[in-house]
This record gives sequence, C-alpha cells and structure tokens, in this order.
Amino acid sequence: MVEKQVKEYLDSGKQRFLDELLELLRIPSVSADSKHKADVARAAEYVKLRLEEAGAENVEVCKTPGHPIVLAQKFVSESVPTVLVYGHYDVQPPDPLDLWDSPPFEPVIKNEKIYARGSADDKGQFFMHIKAFEALNKTGNLNCNIKFMIEGEEEVGSKHLAQFVKDNKQKLSCDVILISDTSIISNSSPSITVGLRGLSYMEVELTGPNRDLHSGVYGGAVANPINTLCKMIATLKDEKNRVTIPGFYDDVADLSAQERAAMAKRPFNLDEYKSDLGIDEVEGEEGYSTIERVGIRPTLDVNGIWGGYTNEGAKTVLPSKAHAKISMRLVPNQNSDKITDIFAKHMEEITPPTMKIKVTAHHGGEPTVTPTDSKAYRAASKAFEEAWGKTPIPSREGGSIPIVALFKEVLGTDTVLLGFGLDSDAIHSPNEHYGLFNFYKGIETITLFYKHFQNSKI
Ligand code: BES
Ligand code: MN
Ligand code: MN
Repeated sequence: MVEKQVKEYLDSGKQRFLDELLELLRIPSVSADSKHKADVARAAEYVKLRLEEAGAENVEVCKTPGHPIVLAQKFVSESVPTVLVYGHYDVQPPDPLDLWDSPPFEPVIKNEKIYARGSADDKGQFFMHIKAFEALNKTGNLNCNIKFMIEGEEEVGSKHLAQFVKDNKQKLSCDVILISDTSIISNSSPSITVGLRGLSYMEVELTGPNRDLHSGVYGGAVANPINTLCKMIATLKDEKNRVTIPGFYDDVADLSAQERAAMAKRPFNLDEYKSDLGIDEVEGEEGYSTIERVGIRPTLDVNGIWGGYTNEGAKTVLPSKAHAKISMRLVPNQNSDKITDIFAKHMEEITPPTMKIKVTAHHGGEPTVTPTDSKAYRAASKAFEEAWGKTPIPSREGGSIPIVALFKEVLGTDTVLLGFGLDSDAIHSPNEHYGLFNFYKGIETITLFYKHFQNSKI
C-alpha cells in the first residue's frame, strides 16, 4: 500500500492533476517547427511553474542554442539515494491535421482517454512524475533526493542535451535515472522496458540531368532520378528482408536460445496486432517473430520520398532530382556512426554513372539494454506488483531514446524505463491519446517506486 496520506493526496488531487496536464497539452510545443519556438519556451515555463508549486527547489529554465532544458531538484538528505527524472516537453508535429477527430492542441477526454498531441509522448508521462513528487513531498513522504531534467528537443534528436549533460555532470549526478517515455505490453500485462533500439537517420539526394526535362522530349533516353532512386532503395533489403548493406550485421549481438525462448513467453496476439493496423499479413526478417523483429533485430525504412511533380493534375516532367529520408533502427552492439558511414559508402557504390548522389546524416543514437538485476529495477518491479497486482515482464521495445546510452556513458548511471503508454496510443500519429487509467496508475506506481527503492536493502 502507498502511505495512506499519499493515497488520499492522490485521490483528492485527481481532477486538478488532469486539469493541469490539459493546460500543458494546450501549448503547441512542436520542437521541429521554428514557428512554434515561443510555444516551446512557454511550455518550459509552464513545467517550471508546476515543479515550483510541487515544492521543487532551484527550478531553472536553462537556455541552450536550441530549446531550453528545465532543471529542478529537492534535496532531502546526504544519506538517501538520488533519483534523476528525465522527460521531454516537446512534441511531434501534429500533421496531417485533417486526420484528427479533434484539434491536436485542444485536448478532449473520450472513452476514458485524453486525446491530444503529446498526451502519451511525453507530456502525460513526465507529468506523472511531477505529481508523484508533489504527493510525496506535500505529505512529508519524500524519502529520496530528486532531480528533474525535462528537455525540449527530444523529438528533434536532443541536439544540445549531450553537451549539457557533459557540462553539468555534477549537477546531474544520481543513483538512478527514471524515464517514463515508453510503453507497457497492455493494461493486463504490465512490463518494464529493458531495451531500446538505436537510430541512424539519413537523407539522400539523387541528381540526374541538370534541370527538369520534358518527359516526352527526353523520356526513355535520359535516366530518371526517381526511377533510379526507387531501384536503389529496392535493393537495400533482400528476399529474406535482410538489409544488404555490407557489414550491416557485423556487430549485431545474437541472443541465446534461452533468451529468445524467454522473449517468446510474453503475451502477444498477432491477429489483434494485424487487425489494429488494418493489415492482412506482417512482414519482416526471415527467421524472427514480430516481437523479435522490433525488439532485437535492426532494420531499415524509408520515412519519406519525394521529387518531381506532386501537385494537382498531371505535368509531364522528367525531374532533375529525387530525395528520400531513410532511417535504420539499430540493436546492441551496432554503432550509429559506423552504420551511418557504411550506409553512405554503400549508397555511393550503388549509384549508377547516370546520377550524382549526396548523402547526409541527421540525428542518430545508440541502442541500449538496461539491467534487471539492479536495486532500482527491483524497486520498479515491486511497485508494479503492488499497484497492478502483477509482476511486470521485462520487454525490449523498438523505439529510440538516445539519451539513455549517453547517460550511461557520461554519468555512468543506469536508467529504469518506467513507461506507462500503450503501443496503440498513436504516438507521432493523428489522434494520439493516453488512457486516464494509465495516467493515474502511473502516478501511483511512481510513488511506490520511491517507497521500495528506499526500503530495499542491498
Ligand atoms: N518516446 C519515444 C520513443 C519510444 C516510443 C520508445 C515508444 C519506446 C516506445 C521518443 O519520443 C521518440 O519518438 N524517439 C524517436 C527518436 C528521436 C531521436 C527522434 C524515435 O524513436 O523515432
Ligand atoms: Mn518520447
Ligand atoms: Mn516521440
């Protein structure tokens, strides 16, 4: 049980917590879009205000060359452990807007879910930590030192966070990092994320003739960059759906048969998965299950492709250029810089003499596996047991949070990925939502984490 006073505080605060979150969700803090720079700054100020009201000290909005980072802390005693909470208050662009049932920055509650951009990724999730902290602090039950670092550039690759962490090692020093920015398997199968994929995100520009041409006058005699780019991309995976870039799999850590058997035990319903997505069949690397394909195997996907004439009607044109954005999801022990390099080399190699290619790298990040044999993991596991009545299943997820590897490298500290979202929350998509159940249960679970983290011996 949570301390009675904490429980009462959480119960009586329910409506206010929600109202405060909705206020945050009304701020369109889209980090990718410079038009929203002031909104992003406003969201940072709002986070600062709520942290102050919750009782945090030294609350600062730290400027970076990009969007600001909000820092806060509450010191309890030298003799108790320190927890650092990381989250992000920036959100993905809401496009395509016409596919939303209600405007993305006018949150509505429907079927017990909060619909708004950022509701699950990550405003609704990091906000749970502020409320859990508030409840513990205001009832005199805070038993750990706590630090908050909530950034505004996660969705654009955390450009300035790495330097910030390196410059503020002392200020950020802690015994464990808590992040709620991932999913559980389902509300009936709670889980703790123990692995995330890394990322290499690339952009390719292919140039053929020096200008757009009449596709009748020149078509058939001059190579078309869009046709050629499509052909090149089509060769990047073979008939077994393996990536064909030489060296791509060199560093991939294979899991033991035992580890794979353990993974296969987690609940997963392929029919539900397919029907949720409206597909008749799944597709992926031969020899691996769907769970393995996203959890422990790397892959490559085109995120966007463009060129030529795409407006209304038809224009006969043989375009001069074709473009694509291509991402690769990485697993231990692949290295993002190395993969970026071999991708660029390979693309250059397969470019026919009819074309010139330009390959540029966007953001990247390293894959991570977080430990399950730590005091913090055990505390999180016990917190789930108490709040959800079930032992959480350790699970590897396909998304990326590059800062987790960086925390380990720079601060030497492990993270517990205490996410409460669901894969069906439609993060990054229209109609993103977050369950009220998950929001409130998450707050309760976080308060229980502190209880068990401090009490557990070892
Ligand atoms: N919260 C997500 C990552 C995530 C989602 C992990 C679901 C596990 C389950 C995060 O905000 C995100 O979108 N990350 C980006 C990478 C980043 C470098 C832009 C991603 O995974 O595409
Ligand atoms: Mn996120
Ligand atoms: Mn995201």
